[in-house]
Amino acid sequence: MKTRTISAIIAMIILASTNVSARETLAKATKGKFLMGVAINMQQVNGVNPVETDLIANEFSAVVAENCMKPQPTHPQENKYVWDDADKFVAFGEKNKQTVTGHCLIWHSQIGRWMFVNDSGKDVSPEVLKERMRQHIYAVVGRYKGRVKGWDVVNEAFEDNGTYRKSKFYQILGKDFIKYAFQFAHEADPNAELYYNDYNVETPAKCDAIVQLVKELKAAGCRIDAVGSQSHMHMVNPTLEATETSFKKLKAAGVHILITEWDVSILPSPYDGANISASFKYSKEMDPYRDGVPADVQQKWNKRVLDMFGLFLKYSDVVDRVTVWGLNDAGTWLNGFPIRGRMDYPLLFDRKNQRKSVVDEMIKMAQKTKVKK
Ligand code: XIL
Repeated sequence: MKTRTISAIIAMIILASTNVSARETLAKATKGKFLMGVAINMQQVNGVNPVETDLIANEFSAVVAENCMKPQPTHPQENKYVWDDADKFVAFGEKNKQTVTGHCLIWHSQIGRWMFVNDSGKDVSPEVLKERMRQHIYAVVGRYKGRVKGWDVVNEAFEDNGTYRKSKFYQILGKDFIKYAFQFAHEADPNAELYYNDYNVETPAKCDAIVQLVKELKAAGCRIDAVGSQSHMHMVNPTLEATETSFKKLKAAGVHILITEWDVSILPSPYDGANISASFKYSKEMDPYRDGVPADVQQKWNKRVLDMFGLFLKYSDVVDRVTVWGLNDAGTWLNGFPIRGRMDYPLLFDRKNQRKSVVDEMIKMAQKTKVKK
């Protein structure tokens, strides 16, 4: 009897300790509603800090590469492809049974200049650019065929006022460059989902332009599964209302929605966009929380995160994935953008890789939400 009691106690202790390591996670709580993703860097893929690598593997159901699959790193010169990092990244996601997203095929930033010029440095003809796009897209999508669930095919083709960005792609090929990119991606992997991705999708003029693009792509017979809303947010903008309006418009256009690069900056900002070439001068006033975030500001940030997350859950019939742009506050790109050298707190894990208390609230919200799919 005594031995039995002791064994039972030991069993209970073991169970209790495993429960701690198998804590509730966003990945589990959002299962069946949407994927919960995270953008990861190569240090994390390479396991430089095992704590981070474990958190990524356990707390998220999807991954996207923060940089290594972009045009410049994969295709730095016309006849040179570099796959080492992207290969490792895709294998990492597979090893952890996570959904892998490809980011991104055609973008005006982080792309080799060679793409647009000939040997004498002049703009190439529309035919040459189209062929280079085809080669790039076929190579990248073809390499990971069947392993990457979906691609951000075109990133950031619009200005906030809804006009086309005057990128080199647009200057040389006109707006049809978008259609070509979707066609090539579909040819390279007919089973892959295809997305259009942008920031400030909540801005009405920009959202309307994206909806129009979706209609035109569908009319041209192109596959487009979802619009990715980057969702680089601030403390006030975008408002919850503007965000919901953009969801309604996209849903009505017959596409699904992905929250692709979610972060909520706690800092004052001179700029609401996410064009990575934007840059502003550092000042102490713009970097107020070097010694920590005051409780009232933290409360406001928590509320903002919960309000937005509640909206994502409310639309989980069409929101397929919510991806945060980075694991922890130490690694966020916002420490360097749009002002270098600041200390921001936009993510779900802190600088010591501790999960923020708001995540427990998010998990409870997700658990209460009925599965809609
Ligand atoms: C950012 C990365 O986070 C940085 O590490 C890099 O230096 C610049 O790009 N929109 C996008 C992302 O689609 O690819 C960008 O990522 C952030 C804005």
